[in-house]
Amino acid sequence: MGKMIEQPRVELSKVAVSETHGENSPYFAGWKAYDENPYDELTNSSGVIQMGLAENQVSFDLLEKYLEEHPEASTWGSGFRENALFQDYHGLKSFRTAMASFMEQIRGGRAKFDPDRVVLTAGATAANELLTFILANPGDALLVPTPYYPGFDRDLRWRTGVNIVPIHCDSSNNFQITPQALEAAYNEAEANNTKVRGVLITNPSNPLGATVQRSILEYLLDFVTEKNIHLVSDEIYSGSVFSSSEFVSVAEILEARQYKEAERVHIVYSLSKDLGLPGFRVGTIYSYNDSVVTTARRMSSFTLISSQTQHLLACMLSDKKFTENYIGTNRERLRKRYQMIIEGLRSVGIECLKGNAGLFCWMNLSPLLEKANREGELELWNAFLHEVKLNISPGSSCRCSEPGWFRVCFANMSEHTLEVALERIRNFMGRINKE
Ligand SMILES: Cc1ncc(COP(=O)(O)O)c(C=O)c1O
Repeated sequence: MGKMIEQPRVELSKVAVSETHGENSPYFAGWKAYDENPYDELTNSSGVIQMGLAENQVSFDLLEKYLEEHPEASTWGSGFRENALFQDYHGLKSFRTAMASFMEQIRGGRAKFDPDRVVLTAGATAANELLTFILANPGDALLVPTPYYPGFDRDLRWRTGVNIVPIHCDSSNNFQITPQALEAAYNEAEANNTKVRGVLITNPSNPLGATVQRSILEYLLDFVTEKNIHLVSDEIYSGSVFSSSEFVSVAEILEARQYKEAERVHIVYSLSKDLGLPGFRVGTIYSYNDSVVTTARRMSSFTLISSQTQHLLACMLSDKKFTENYIGTNRERLRKRYQMIIEGLRSVGIECLKGNAGLFCWMNLSPLLEKANREGELELWNAFLHEVKLNISPGSSCRCSEPGWFRVCFANMSEHTLEVALERIRNFMGRINKE
C-alpha cells in the first residue's frame, strides 16, 4: 500500500472479514518468501527458486512464433470499432467455436463439444466459483478429493459461503478415490446436517499429476446419479497429459452413455495451463444442463474475457496446423521435464508418485520427517524454503491427510534453473545423510 492513511474503524461485510479467503496458508507464504528474494541466474543466484507455481513456460516459443507469423491475430485493422464495442456475454462466436474444437482436439477427438454450451469466464477460478454459486446454497457442501488445489479453499468457499468436505485419499492406493472414502465424506456431511450438492474432481489431478481412471469416473457418475447431486470435472490440465490416450474425460463417458444423466455434469476448462496463458484470464464452463448454461452466461457478466483476447485466441485456436503441432510438442516437452526431475530426485533417494500429466510432481519426503505429523511437515517445508531456498508446496496446504508429501512444479522455469534446484536438493540430501 502507498501513502499511510489513518483507518477509521468502519465496519465491512461478513465476506470481507471472513477467513475463508484461504490465503493464510504456507502455499501463499512460500510465494511471498520467493517474491522477497527471487532467484535469478545472473543477478541473484542464491535466491529462492519458485517451485510452488503451476505455470507452463515450456512452449512460449511456439506461441511467439505464431504471433510473429500472424500479425492479423493481434491487430485490428477495420474491425477495431466493432470489437471495441463488443460486450455480449455470449462471447465471440468464432472464439467459442475455436475453443470447443480445441477441447475436442485435446481429447484426441474422442468427445464432442457444442460451442453453444461453452460459457466464457475470466479463468477457471471464476468458472469454479460461478458453478458453485449456481449449484449450492450457503452452508451446503461440495465433496472434493484430497489432496486438492489450495485455491479451491478460496474459489469454492469464500464468497459463496459453501463448504468443502474432503474425500480423504492416501498413498496406500496412489491417492485414488475409493467408494469407501466417497461414502465416508458424504455420510460425514449428512451427519453434520450439511446438504451435499455435488462432487468436484480435478482430472488430471492437481497436485498429483495423474489422470483419474475410467473405472473411478464411471463410479462417480453412478454415485452422483444415485444421490441426485452434481459432478464437476475441472479438466484444466487435460492438454498436459503426456500421452493423450491416457486421459479419459467425463465427456467421453457421457457420450458412451448416450448423455444419460448428463444434465448433472459440468466441465471446467481454461487456457492458463495448456497454453501457459494465466495472464489472459480465459476459462470456460461446459455444462450439459440448459439451465446451468443460461444462468452461468448471465453470471459471467461479472467475469467476461476482453474481446481483444477472444479475437487473438479465435485466430490461434482455429489454426489446426498450429494447434496440432502445439499440443504434440508441448506434451513431449512436459514429459521430458517430468522425466528430468523424477530421475534427478530418484538419484538422491527421493521417490515421487507415478504421474502421467501436469506441470508438477508429487514428492514423498515422509522418510525425512522428524515428527510424522503436520508440524513435522511444516518444519521440513521451512527448511526447504530458508536453507535449500526452494519454495515447494506442503501437502497439508492441499489438505492431504498424510504428512510428508510435497508438490513440486517444474514447468515455470528454464531447464538450467531446474538443474540448479536439483543440485540444491542433492546437497541438502548429502548433508542430511551425513548427519
Ligand atoms: C485445478 C485448478 N483449477 C483452477 C485453477 C485456476 O486457473 P485459472 O488461472 O484459469 O483461473 C488452477 C490453477 O492453478 C488449478 O490448478
